[in-house]
Amino acid sequence: MTRIILNGCNGKMGQVITRLAADDDECEIVAGFDINDCLPNTYPVFTEPDQCDIEADVIIDFSHPSALDGLLKYAQKKKLPIVVATTGLSGEQKAELSEMSKSIAVFFSANMSVGINLLIELAKKATAVLGDMFDIEIVEQHHNQKLDAPSGTALAIADAIAETREQPSEYVYDRHSVRRKRSKKEIGLHAVRGGTIVGKHNVIFAGQDEIIEISHEAASKEVFAAGSVKAAKFMKGKTSGWYSMTELIGEFI
Ligand SMILES: NC(=O)c1ccc[n+]([C@@H]2O[C@H](COP(=O)([O-])OP(=O)(O)OC[C@H]3O[C@@H](n4cnc5c(N)ncnc54)[C@H](O)[C@@H]3O)[C@@H](O)[C@H]2O)c1
Repeated sequence: MTRIILNGCNGKMGQVITRLAADDDECEIVAGFDINDCLPNTYPVFTEPDQCDIEADVIIDFSHPSALDGLLKYAQKKKLPIVVATTGLSGEQKAELSEMSKSIAVFFSANMSVGINLLIELAKKATAVLGDMFDIEIVEQHHNQKLDAPSGTALAIADAIAETREQPSEYVYDRHSVRRKRSKKEIGLHAVRGGTIVGKHNVIFAGQDEIIEISHEAASKEVFAAGSVKAAKFMKGKTSGWYSMTELIGEFI
């Protein structure tokens, strides 16, 4: 049984994890932290980490960057592994997380979907095999409320491909302003926005007379919640170090 403290427990993701954990025999949420303690939960909720003296195995954080400092202090004091899913962390905060991983176990992923992270691993493998023979384009689709484009996940896919390639890469975000043929070093990134699409990513490897496509579609936020619970179980008992979905998936491939 993995005992979880859930930071941001009363947010959208926090409540999805609360539902998932209630149906999971291998984990239990023993406490929640949230500055908003208005929702009824089956576990106690604290507005400040320091108020909590409940024994746990791991912390999951889906909250806000402003919560990170206090949460890390708590994790360090209690020597608890922490799974950080909150996005929008500053460079300084990411450096702080990395420094903290010398004394506690830190898991960070800006996309907790196991499927997307597997897609990234597969795209790296495809890049290594296909090299510069294939043109690589990434197409992402999201709902019409999303502000940023391309998505952080599309950029993470592009970064993984660029790191795998032997030649330097150039990211090309749109092609309407320049009339020129595509060069081999390009990675094209394209954003589609509409309706309620939760998130879809396609990586296209286009070669001479053949196309390989790797794609992933999220149907709900549950995939991120499920991935974070998997990560929490994976982190139980770990004492220090930096972990990501690469290590979690690496157990299987
Ligand atoms: N890594 C991933 O795969 C992934 C997936 C979905 C969302 N997220 C990120 O997770 C975070 C939460 O997403 P959400 O959709 O649940 O947002 P949300 O706004 O619905 O919930 C955030 C919760 O955190 C609480 N909170 C805010 N500041 C806090 C603080 N200082 N201390 C404690 N609690 C605090 C809020 O009261 C709220 O209940 C966001 O950063 C989002 O981008 C990451």
